[in-house]
Amino acid sequence: MDQVELIGVQLKGNHITESRELSDESNSLGNEQNYPPEPQSKVLKKLERAEAITGEKEVKAKEMLEKQNNSAKAPSEFNKERYVREAAKSWNLFYKRNTTNFFKDRHWTEREFPELGKVGNDRKLLEIGCGVGNFVFPLLKANPELFIYCCDFSPKAIELVQQNSEYDPTRCKAFVCDMTTRDLLDEIEPNSIDLLSSIFCLSAIPPQKIDVCMENIAKVLKPGGIFMFRDYGLYDASQLRFKAENKIDERFYVRGDGTFTLFFTPAYLQSLCEKVGLEMIENDYVLKEVINRKKELSMDRIFVQGRFRKI
Ligand SMILES: C[S@@+](CC[C@H](N)C(=O)[O-])C[C@H]1O[C@@H](n2cnc3c(N)ncnc32)[C@H](O)[C@@H]1O
Repeated sequence: MDQVELIGVQLKGNHITESRELSDESNSLGNEQNYPPEPQSKVLKKLERAEAITGEKEVKAKEMLEKQNNSAKAPSEFNKERYVREAAKSWNLFYKRNTTNFFKDRHWTEREFPELGKVGNDRKLLEIGCGVGNFVFPLLKANPELFIYCCDFSPKAIELVQQNSEYDPTRCKAFVCDMTTRDLLDEIEPNSIDLLSSIFCLSAIPPQKIDVCMENIAKVLKPGGIFMFRDYGLYDASQLRFKAENKIDERFYVRGDGTFTLFFTPAYLQSLCEKVGLEMIENDYVLKEVINRKKELSMDRIFVQGRFRKI
């Protein structure tokens, strides 16, 4: 066995004590340029750490991030604006190029978000930034009574969802929608959604546009409805691999194909949610250490995961 993964999850101070299978999220990463290879085989063990990373690793990570601060190499203001303007086009090209072959199905979501297991036939879920349905289809299969709305601002992604042989319009509605505009309210009634998920979506949205997206999320959720979140965390291996040419702002980067990625801290996520009346249930780093024994390399995959309730 050449590769080993160690997973540690810390949720609101309660360390999870069992080893658990961690399957697919390492493929939820974007273009190859900044994405570490998917491990072939895994042994899982719990890590207990209070911070995303600490000690020498933190010092090293900070040094690597410091090297990204080079204003001579940074994208020009003109290009930064162009990337923002063309974000939907860039993602659409991504799906034209990769079709359904890039992201893996997310089979871990029911384990991580307990509300999903409790879904009944009168409950509605909305997935924002659904891509080609890697979160949606496994969930539809596991919950025969669930209705799922899902949206993405890439028409190609939505076309691929609708062409999936498991797409059943009596159980699922996929539609094109830019979450940073008011489009969502044309499709979804205010206060009508029980569960809303953002799985590696908010990281793709420029920080100056996230507030509108959060307002939309809060508007469509029912009081008591749950917002479920998982995305890239500060010091994730993919952040450390970026160059000065990719850095747009603190924790915010553009990839070679024009798509964005923002690296979250739990505090930043909490502030976004509290501004729109979502109270925290849990919100922490999820850590996964991937070790390649052959190459004697190890890397830390770091995510932020949270659940919030609409007050
Ligand atoms: C990393 S992919 C994640 C896809 C999917 N959630 C999954 O887990 O496989 C991010 C997705 O967010 C979508 N996205 C980015 N900005 C968006 C916006 N403003 N409105 C709607 N979707 C957006 C992209 O098109 C892309 O499909």
